[in-house]
Amino acid sequence: MKELLSGFDEIFHRDPQTACFAPGRVNLIGEHTDYNGGHVFPCAINRGIYCAASRRKDSILQFYSESYPAAGVIGYHLDKLQLQGCWADYPASVIRAFAAFGYYPESGADFYFRSDLPEGAGLSSSAALEISAGIMLRELFSLAITPQELAVLGQFAENRFIGVNCGIMDQFASAMGKNRHAVLLDANTLSYRYAPLGEASIIIVNSGVRHSLASSAYNDRRRECERVRNMLNVAALCSLSREEFDSSSDKISDEICYRRARHAVYENQRTLDAEKALLSGDYEEFGKLMNASHISLRDDYEVSCSELDFLTETAQKIPGVYGSRMTGGGFGGCTVNLMEKGAVRLFTETIKESFETRYGRVPEIYTVTACNGAEIIEL
Ligand code: GLA
Repeated sequence: MKELLSGFDEIFHRDPQTACFAPGRVNLIGEHTDYNGGHVFPCAINRGIYCAASRRKDSILQFYSESYPAAGVIGYHLDKLQLQGCWADYPASVIRAFAAFGYYPESGADFYFRSDLPEGAGLSSSAALEISAGIMLRELFSLAITPQELAVLGQFAENRFIGVNCGIMDQFASAMGKNRHAVLLDANTLSYRYAPLGEASIIIVNSGVRHSLASSAYNDRRRECERVRNMLNVAALCSLSREEFDSSSDKISDEICYRRARHAVYENQRTLDAEKALLSGDYEEFGKLMNASHISLRDDYEVSCSELDFLTETAQKIPGVYGSRMTGGGFGGCTVNLMEKGAVRLFTETIKESFETRYGRVPEIYTVTACNGAEIIEL
């Protein structure tokens, strides 16, 4: 907090008017289901993005991030907000999204960001950046916007202006998370409910393989699902039960598209089953569903990679580990691992050692707790 204030002062030579924290997220299960109108089951985590901000008297928007010191202060003009192909396009796009929804900032503003979330690791640093900028705008200009709306605006900014066709999960988790709970979100209706996480530990392992969502692979998967949706003539793939999907599978002419759609439909059911398992305290069952999710992402959806497969296979053999799977969009990034508290030490040692033996480097491991969605920090 001190660093945030002094950092703001150093760059902008005054005090910030307001500050906030927007968390990253880890998805426990329900991968690549959100844009198929299905369920996701993420939690916001106690790592994320801090932002301090102040209004300006003119129409200039300025952004500075401790993660990109060499880029310095990046400026935009409120009336002609042209993107510049750099990190600050994310918060700048949120301002464009606000304007597109009729929320006009009355003046320019200065923003200072600080992060303890690894980037490109599938823990939603982009969503946290968007939500933190959104909260700051809301505060600076007294805009009546709910956290759900902030999530929608963040997604809109990313889809429309950044060009990543992501679903709503990441922004929703960052805006709507709850302390010690996971949130089961129906991405079709945006209705949601919380489930207490209980005693199990959530450990994230970073494969160190940088994923690039903007790379065409994510958008390719969406297109493949969209093709099947058209072939089956349904409003959303995840509106189908497994049985309905199986009985209409002969209508899907393309084998790859068939496997993509099968993943989405089966993963949606696994997500609903996982919520039940968690509510009844059945971590063993929850873990089995996580493991099955990984296999499906590896074989049907084809968004895993050798490092993620190695990490999950190693984790699943460690006593006390309930389940392990890749988390987020894939093509690298992190695994999420659910285990008994007592297993954490052995898990950490085993994963570090075996990954280093195989890949010649030690992976970063984060112990996280589920936390509230984005919040104002009292100055
Ligand atoms: C990324 C997207 C989300 C979701 C996941 C895959 O994180 O931003 O909307 O589609 O991938 O589950």
